Amino acid sequence: MARANGKVILLGEHAVVYGVPAIAAGIERGVLASAQPADSSSLRIGERYARAADESELGRAFAALLAALDAPRLAVQACLELPPGSGLGASAALGVAIARAVLSASGCEPDAARVQAAAAAWEGVYHGNPSGIDAAAAAHDGCLWFDRQSGPQPIVLRRDLVLAIGLADPPASTKLMVEGVARLRERRPEVVDKALEGIRALVANAKLCLEAGDLPGLGSLMNYNQMLLSGLFVSTEGIERCCALARDAGALGAKLTGAGGGGAVIALCDGTAQAILAAWQGAGIDCFGSSVRARAAEVSVAK
Ligand code: PMV
Repeated sequence: MARANGKVILLGEHAVVYGVPAIAAGIERGVLASAQPADSSSLRIGERYARAADESELGRAFAALLAALDAPRLAVQACLELPPGSGLGASAALGVAIARAVLSASGCEPDAARVQAAAAAWEGVYHGNPSGIDAAAAAHDGCLWFDRQSGPQPIVLRRDLVLAIGLADPPASTKLMVEGVARLRERRPEVVDKALEGIRALVANAKLCLEAGDLPGLGSLMNYNQMLLSGLFVSTEGIERCCALARDAGALGAKLTGAGGGGAVIALCDGTAQAILAAWQGAGIDCFGSSVRARAAEVSVAK
């Protein structure tokens, strides 16, 4: 059985599309996939089914992935442990897990560069201009610095990160949210470029905080990042409310993660996620905790 991580973006989403660095961390919830030789290529993800030759988005993404791997005919099954479209990297995790399963069923080594290329082909169907951060985080454990020019670099954490992840609002389309920022940039380049430069400075400082174990500093930078994302019109009332509840319950920082327009909020916790998860549950927000460990750069999840 092949696997891939879901992810959170600690800082830098949207800006990363324009070449600004971002910081992501893998979470343990992700995707499992397996593949067997078959007469024709097909993909089943829970209730969803597509053939590689069909015209559905899923069918086209699957066909693009198989073509990138020059794969034989395979029946692939995948199981999602993440809510799709919520900024937790479900789509990229599917691409990475399916690519790994396809390579293994084809008798090939799960070569990292081939997996990345296949996941990029998959992502390209869903999302016109993917930065690649989701696919990189899906394929690596721990915390990553990512930019479009140099790709992923591991960040060595001084302290564990304890995160609370809340599903603030129904999911939104990453493609539409990225297109919305692109349109805003065409109309108001000076406003968007200023926000992008602000995010660049926050991300650079966040790396120093992660390396020094300065979690209050990291939390403040996440709060500023949320303000700049609101200025790009990718936040929602539900996201703002979820962030406010987390901060009131003691979070060091809180922000949306991923494309926004709905989906998930992450809160950086001071030691334990309990108070924040309780506050969210009290407000009817579906949530779970996740840790990114400093030592082994491993991840663990608790409901
Ligand atoms: O797929 P999501 O919702 O986790 O968003 C990915 C992050 C963006 O920066 C918004 C898009 C990208 O390709 O980097």
